[in-house]
Amino acid sequence: MEQLKIVGGVPLKGEIEVSGAKNAALAILAAAVLNEGQCVVDNVPDVLDIRTLLRGIEDLGASVSYCRGRVKIDAGSIKRPVADRDYMHKIRGSYYLLGALLGRFKEAEVVMPGGCAIGSRPIDQHIKGFEALGCQIVVEHGMIRAKAIDKQLIGTNIYLDVASVGATINIMMAACLAKGQTTIENPAKEPHVVDVANFLNSMGANVKGAGTDMIRIEGVERLSPSQYAIIPDQIEAGTYMVAAAITGGDLLIKNLIPKHMEAISAKLQEMAVQVEEYDDAIRVYVNQPLKGCNVKTLFYPGFPTDMQPQFTALMSVVNGTSVMTESVFVSRFQYTDELRRMGADIKVEANTAIVKGVDELTGAEVKAKDLRAGAALVLAGLAANGESIIHHLEYIDRGYEHIEHKLSACGARIIRMSEGKEKGHLQLV
Ligand code: EPU
Repeated sequence: MEQLKIVGGVPLKGEIEVSGAKNAALAILAAAVLNEGQCVVDNVPDVLDIRTLLRGIEDLGASVSYCRGRVKIDAGSIKRPVADRDYMHKIRGSYYLLGALLGRFKEAEVVMPGGCAIGSRPIDQHIKGFEALGCQIVVEHGMIRAKAIDKQLIGTNIYLDVASVGATINIMMAACLAKGQTTIENPAKEPHVVDVANFLNSMGANVKGAGTDMIRIEGVERLSPSQYAIIPDQIEAGTYMVAAAITGGDLLIKNLIPKHMEAISAKLQEMAVQVEEYDDAIRVYVNQPLKGCNVKTLFYPGFPTDMQPQFTALMSVVNGTSVMTESVFVSRFQYTDELRRMGADIKVEANTAIVKGVDELTGAEVKAKDLRAGAALVLAGLAANGESIIHHLEYIDRGYEHIEHKLSACGARIIRMSEGKEKGHLQLV
């Protein structure tokens, strides 16, 4: 088990390059199995969830290589559309193999998805979509088995009760190779949904309207290999924007799409953080005392739930009281116990956290309980007075590429530890 040791109190200064979007990459790499040739995907982040998915795709029989952000997947050798390995249960993105394999083979068996424990995560909308496309679905012994009743998926109209990212992408993938037109009403509009649609189209699919209130997919006979580069990670970029704010620093965060960051930038500005936008970069710095604000998480283009813990950490050290309302994963507040150990004043009532800013946080030993909770603890540790040890680094490694290197290059005193021993150098200031 590895930990992060952080000695807080250093205002971060410098530049950070954002990696490719984990949640886009998970879907796009799974979607590569829709065709029988070799896809080349660039800007793939080197994070644990991606490695787990790639292992799963390889275990299906595909040939997979990964080198410096470039993944090559040749799915021609897949014989059985069955992803039954236990380790696939660890990640959420495994469910994308269901849509992709179903599209190509008209049947699929995939382990029930896992992922971060951030509250109830049903997949009823995925199942409803596959059934509407003409499939029979059985969930038993921890597996989801899906089969096209007439050996053919049939295009149809699907209305999603919730604008689920996973269900939208899964249905979109399967419908690419269905007969006729499929429409998805009330789809998710997150940037990675659009990225997946663009990748599908690059393989010859006919998907229109991704990012709007209605997606139309005209089924095609087959898809062909393509080369594609994944968009930058909105949440990684947002996390580093908060890192600049919480440490009173000055960071230029490069390789991002400012449009994707609008909700995050707007809330930082409301807190009196300075945010300057460039074509593909954002500078974030602090030149006055920060103040509290109210945030409610929503589907895109609203404020992302995956930035909720990081913002709550920031709210805990600014002047005044802030209110954080979580409306996507309503019980995503388990990490606040850990922030309290560092001196934060947070009261949680149902899906709302009331955060009273304190003068300073103090370093402590804390546990990451999920990916974004872990990111929030890193941010708190960077701001805190003294030393923090963050346990369960494996959660943070699921979604942040080389987090300690990126932060230490900007002056953070942060180091990876393994069984109590340091694995790198603390940067001295
Ligand atoms: N929902 C349903 N039924 C469904 C699917 C979802 O009721 O069939 C509900 C969920 O319970 C939740 C809401 O719809 O309240 C949104 O869930 P969604 O399906 O959009 O989330 P997801 O696909 O399970 C992805 C990301 C999450 C991110 C959410 C929301 C991946 C692998 N995961 O999860 O990312 O929080 O979308 O944007 O793409 C993370 O990266 O840390 C992370 C948790």
